[in-house]
Amino acid sequence: MPKFDSANLPAPEFCIQEVRKWLSAYPQKPLAYVHSFGCQLNVADGEKLSGILKEMGYGFTQDVAEASLIVYNTCAVRENAEDRVFGTLGSIKKLKQDNPALILCLTGCMTTQPQIAEKIQKSYRYVDIVLGSSAVNHFAQMLWAHMHGLRYAQDIQIDTEISENIQPLRQNSLKAAVPIMYGCNNFCTYCIVPYVRGRERSRQPEQILSEVRSLIQNGYKEIMLLGQNVNSYGKDLPQKISFPELLRQINEISGEYWIRFMSSHPKDATPELMQALLECEHLAKHLHLPVQSGSNAILKRMNRKYTVEKYLSQVEMIRSENPDFSLTTDILIGFPDESEQDFQETLDLVQKVRYDNIYSFIYSKRSGTKAALFPDSTPESEKVQRMQRLLALQREISVENHRKFLGKTLTVLCDGESKKRSGNLTGRTSGNILVEFSGSTDFIGKFVNIQITESHNNMICGNLI
Ligand code: SAH
Ligand code: SF4
Ligand code: F3S
Repeated sequence: MPKFDSANLPAPEFCIQEVRKWLSAYPQKPLAYVHSFGCQLNVADGEKLSGILKEMGYGFTQDVAEASLIVYNTCAVRENAEDRVFGTLGSIKKLKQDNPALILCLTGCMTTQPQIAEKIQKSYRYVDIVLGSSAVNHFAQMLWAHMHGLRYAQDIQIDTEISENIQPLRQNSLKAAVPIMYGCNNFCTYCIVPYVRGRERSRQPEQILSEVRSLIQNGYKEIMLLGQNVNSYGKDLPQKISFPELLRQINEISGEYWIRFMSSHPKDATPELMQALLECEHLAKHLHLPVQSGSNAILKRMNRKYTVEKYLSQVEMIRSENPDFSLTTDILIGFPDESEQDFQETLDLVQKVRYDNIYSFIYSKRSGTKAALFPDSTPESEKVQRMQRLLALQREISVENHRKFLGKTLTVLCDGESKKRSGNLTGRTSGNILVEFSGSTDFIGKFVNIQITESHNNMICGNLI
């Protein structure tokens, strides 16, 4: 296998220009297909990869069969995420046989694991380029090397350098994701992310502020600040700026927009954060605070570093000031040896907090993590039942939560047309509640006031005022 050494290759900017010249010789603009699996941070990386491809002169397609370059930006968080990638790769084999000039590139969190990179090299020999996570800095060099005859190129390092000079090609003209930091230091025992994304690295506040300012000037109405734990933003920077301070600086930018963020680790969610959330006019009245479990014994074995009591006190800080404040969470079901009692405690916590939405996942063993070595006697069928019980409870809570909006007038960011009910528009409240209403498509991209007339378990409906 040829060893790829980016230090011995020309600079990325040079490679971009060289590939551009190369592609300009084609009679038709070559098309790229870029697909990101996994979380919003990965999707944001995918937008940067697309930005580089655009600069190189590629056009884009949603149809793999039309593409001369395919990039899969992968996720490793659960086994089914990896299975999906391998399944997709299998379906591409025929395309590659029919068109050997097709370039197939795999990047993202999966490929950063050596055993996966080895499996790809052995069993999926038609993959041309394998790159580690956040590979934006090396992507251009890899393509350049491939075009110079390197048949198989692999660099599964985690790209730790933050690239500030790449313009992402954004998929949406209304809502933009802005990563504020990369990596994770927390090593929750079930989670692969710290191994595949490396240690925490914060962007400079000036870079973030200038990106957000420019997005707002360009008409973006909702900015999602991203990091695996935004609450530790700035701890690695020399100037020591905290996340709540960053939020307050962003909130000074004038314009009509909402700021959201995720994820916020409860171990570092401070009263200053809650204060900023309650006070800053541009901060959406929504906090995603992933609890994972309602059992202190499980939280300890997960290495989450907070207790249920501390978590509930954070919820109280927010809800005592604003009872309508929206809260959502992630819950991991079936962590090794989670007992019925542990699970009951999770249900109790959900009853107490009355979340607006829950993202629940059945535990998936990730090799290399600590929890992969923990004994687990709970059968999978029991875990599936627990998931169903949790979802049933949340459905009841959502129905009740949504009922309280009846008759109220809410500000909604209209974001498109309903796929389910033709003629209807969709939007989100500041609390991220889905709203449907009828109106002209001219309202898309605007903040509108909606009087709520109907409530369901997954959304509310109303009339434009
Ligand atoms: N940094 C975020 C989580 C990112 S991963 C945080 O700390 O909240 C998103 C979610 O995937 C996690 O909240 C967790 O619920 C789930 N998850 C992570 N590892 C998992 C695993 N091994 N099996 C199943 N779900 C997992
Ligand atoms: Fe994974 Fe925990 Fe880091 Fe979130 S904070 S990415 S769950 S290790
Ligand atoms: Fe998946 Fe990587 Fe995100 S593992 S959830 S794509 S950080």
